[in-house]
Amino acid sequence: MDNERITSGDFLREDEFEATIRPRRFDEYVGQTQVKKNLSVFIEAAKKRGEALDHVLLYGPPGLGKTTLAGIIASEMGVNIRITSGPAIEKAADIAGILSNLNEMDVLFIDEIHRLNKSVEEILYPAMEDFSFDIIMGKGPAARSLRIDLPKFTLIGATTRAGLLSAPLRDRFGVINRLELYSTEELMLIVRRTAGILKFAISEEGAREIAKRSRGTPRIANRLVKRARDFAEVYGSDVISEEIAKTALKALDIDSLGLDLVDRNVLLCIIKKFGGGPVGLETLSAATGEDVTTIEDVYEPYLLQLGFINKTPRGRVATPAAYKHLGIPFSENGKN
Ligand SMILES: Nc1ncnc2c1ncn2[C@@H]1O[C@H](COP(=O)(O)OP(=O)(O)OP(=O)(O)O)[C@@H](O)[C@H]1O
Ligand SMILES: [Mg+2]
Repeated sequence: MDNERITSGDFLREDEFEATIRPRRFDEYVGQTQVKKNLSVFIEAAKKRGEALDHVLLYGPPGLGKTTLAGIIASEMGVNIRITSGPAIEKAADIAGILSNLNEMDVLFIDEIHRLNKSVEEILYPAMEDFSFDIIMGKGPAARSLRIDLPKFTLIGATTRAGLLSAPLRDRFGVINRLELYSTEELMLIVRRTAGILKFAISEEGAREIAKRSRGTPRIANRLVKRARDFAEVYGSDVISEEIAKTALKALDIDSLGLDLVDRNVLLCIIKKFGGGPVGLETLSAATGEDVTTIEDVYEPYLLQLGFINKTPRGRVATPAAYKHLGIPFSENGKN
């Protein structure tokens, strides 16, 4: 994946400032209303019973606030959070070590949980279900299994691809939440909050301009605020106005709906090379040079939300709205 792409939802090096702007409580966490409502109820109930919260799975495209939400859950529960990720846990012994070091009620956050290997997953099943697991001591006929009891803990798993999770693992989560792309209004709140933390003024229209063009993703919105601030400073302005926001976005090749060159290339490819579709994902990948998972995880969710493409059994189809946005006349038979 192109890591320099400013409209990527993925974490880039320049996002390190996220630590300072990351919401710490539910009331700072904008949007995802239903998810927040449900979680608040479960958290309150667990606290009343003095029990650990049920295991929680969070899934959705990158940069929508899964890690942030895990942190908020732990702080609302008043417990510690231990953060790790699927690829970081290599062996059964690694997960055994992590689990045995948890305290009662702690949150264990595993990012990219779809990338756990099988032997690690197999320890997790009984750990999640019965708060214990067995390890084999010794070898051959002398080998015996030893049961390790664990404190009651909460596993929070995050993934961009719930479909890649094995069924037995998925079934062990009591709470499964899908995070949705954010609306322009929600992103405006995030943009204004971030500008405030950066101690920089932003006009209503400046905030709207950035929000509209952030692909429904808080991480991108925050990144654009930072870039727009750079433009404002260079132009000697102490506020991110509509004009400055527009100048910054134009310089970054982000169009009026937040599409960048790659998005437009994907759409143009469907329209020009495949008569508007349907075109299969593999073919589209070969024709655009973007890999299949990148198209599925990064480009498609937003193009689908905009209603620019449809998924059909025979492949992806560009909609009349996509033609209109690109200024290409639409004809039913796809011949242009
Ligand atoms: N609901 C929200 N309200 C305000 N800010 C948010 C919200 N969600 C995310 N953010 C901001 O966006 C940034 C990215 O969020 P986060 O790191 O939680 O995303 P993620 O879903 O874990 O991404 P990844 O899939 O890359 O792990 C955070 O630092 C935070 O500042
Ligand atoms: Mg994350």
